[in-house]
Amino acid sequence: MDQKILIVGGAGYVGSHAAKLLKKSGFEGVIFDNFSTGHKVNCRWGKAIDGDLLNPKDLAAAFKEVKPVAVMHFAALTAVGESVTSPKAFYRNNIVGTLNLLDQMVEAKCSNIIFSSSCAVYGLPEIVPITEKEIYKPINPYGFTKYAMERALLDYGKAYGIRSVALRYFNASGADPDLETGELHEPETHLIPIVLEVAAGKRQQMTVNGTNYETKDGSCIRDYIHVMDLASAHVGAVKYLLDGKQSVGLNLGVGRGFSVLEVLKCAEKITGKKINYTVGARREGDPPVLVADSSLAQKTLSWSPQYCDLEVIIKHAWDWFKKMSTGLSS
Ligand code: UFG
Repeated sequence: MDQKILIVGGAGYVGSHAAKLLKKSGFEGVIFDNFSTGHKVNCRWGKAIDGDLLNPKDLAAAFKEVKPVAVMHFAALTAVGESVTSPKAFYRNNIVGTLNLLDQMVEAKCSNIIFSSSCAVYGLPEIVPITEKEIYKPINPYGFTKYAMERALLDYGKAYGIRSVALRYFNASGADPDLETGELHEPETHLIPIVLEVAAGKRQQMTVNGTNYETKDGSCIRDYIHVMDLASAHVGAVKYLLDGKQSVGLNLGVGRGFSVLEVLKCAEKITGKKINYTVGARREGDPPVLVADSSLAQKTLSWSPQYCDLEVIIKHAWDWFKKMSTGLSS
């Protein structure tokens, strides 16, 4: 019988790609999601349970039914700007929800968890590319919730034997190359899908959040990692934990950065459309440069990113966008 993995938040962007790859790798994924931001259509690779992390009874029932050997925890609020203006929901969902999950794991004697963390735990890094030795100094509530839960994982490890892999994503992007799932946020706040909305004529223009940073062209630099590469790192992390190995936190990026203006230029090439933009103010809490050193993840999980080319990432995102949209002139 396949080993069962409880995929919390598996109806969302990264979670659905991981669900697909888990199935392909011989695991049985069961999705647990409250569908507040996730989508039922994303639950194509396993049974879905409609449940809420904030309701311990839902969790207890899911653990009783599924008896997972490991948990993947994707469910979180992630929009950095919103975490500054509405921290209440972030603290409740990301901290209380995660603690409920950990408590239920202890109760159910399930001791393996892969946690979706973020490079936001580092805040403004001192050294780029960023290694796991960088000091944790989150500069927004979102980053702080991820940092706090990484600490909780280690404390639950010492006290209750929970073993964890915290995967610190850089900028998740792209879509399943088979176009069976992809990014569907409402409202959209991330750069690449916003740029594609402009290309498609769904938005007239976009705003570049500052061109006065000390970077090559003045706009912010990010490490865009293909969502399928994030998914494959999750499968590697499950195998790592099931091999009995110790808890670890790992950076997941490609190790090269692109500026916002470079992303726009690349999207113009892929879509053949002009991306109209204006230059706006800096966005609060935006570090100028975030690029990962992922060598520890590569070594620890025997993993390496396969879709490193920004053109490929944007092409997959564009193909998905066109599939999801109607009435576009292509
Ligand atoms: N940007 C624009 N205009 C837009 C949207 C974004 O200029 O309309 C800029 C942002 O200011 C930033 C870059 O494009 O400089 C990338 O922005 P995203 O919103 O796509 O991604 P972030 O880097 O802000 O956020 C991502 C994840 C977070 C994670 C964070 C860590 O989405 O979950 O990286 O910094 F916490």
